[in-house]
Amino acid sequence: MNTIEQSNEVYSENGIIYPSKVMLDLADLKKVYPTPKGDYVVLEDLNLQILKEEFVTIIGHSGCGKTTMLSMIAGLNPISGGNISVLGNPVKGPGPDRGVIFQSPSLMPWMTALQNVLLGVNQVFPQATKGQREDIAKYYLHKVGLENAFHKKASELSQGMQQRVGIARAFAIKPKVLLLDEPFGMLDSLTRGELQDILIEIWNKEKITV
Ligand SMILES: Nc1ncnc2c1ncn2[C@@H]1O[C@H](COP(=O)(O)OP(=O)(O)O)[C@@H](O)[C@H]1O
Ligand SMILES: [Mg+2]
Repeated sequence: MNTIEQSNEVYSENGIIYPSKVMLDLADLKKVYPTPKGDYVVLEDLNLQILKEEFVTIIGHSGCGKTTMLSMIAGLNPISGGNISVLGNPVKGPGPDRGVIFQSPSLMPWMTALQNVLLGVNQVFPQATKGQREDIAKYYLHKVGLENAFHKKASELSQGMQQRVGIARAFAIKPKVLLLDEPFGMLDSLTRGELQDILIEIWNKEKITV
């Protein structure tokens, strides 16, 4: 999918002109889950534009559809109506332009912290050398304070450390948009505060949309 940035507009391949400031565009988004009792409408007429480098938090009671919305943006959950586009390009499935951090980090438990981060890096930077890819993975593991745990298996890490690996993995693929679904909810307040600081620091530095 190619977009050409010109002055302050982005021309997408479907011909629609988007102001380049808009990173993520949800238009009349709808989600219906079929249930035995009939269709359950979770989201309807959802319109939201998120600008480049913005940091947006969605709040709402449990079950209101936050995870549903994020998983649709991630391309992991089909939409029932409307549109989602990133820089003017419709979302058709998961892609390296969108990184996701879930409530629990879903690491490969038998792999080391470094190998888990490399999984993503290897896919997104296949042209880089093995050394360069390792440097990227180690840089972000270092950023989240795991410089002494490169070679520890994920299953041997604490929950907070596993969540740090998840953050390093998401940042290491350098996504345009980072989607976080209550990523610190299960952690103690000390770890939560520390990880929030790390997130803000990386966000400030990398200028991505969160
Ligand atoms: N796969 C599914 N099938 C049917 N209903 C679902 C499914 N996933 C979520 N739901 C329902 O959709 C609603 C929104 O869920 P969710 O997006 O997880 O909410 P939140 O993340 O805001 O707590 C809930 O009522 C939930 O039970
Ligand atoms: Mg949720």
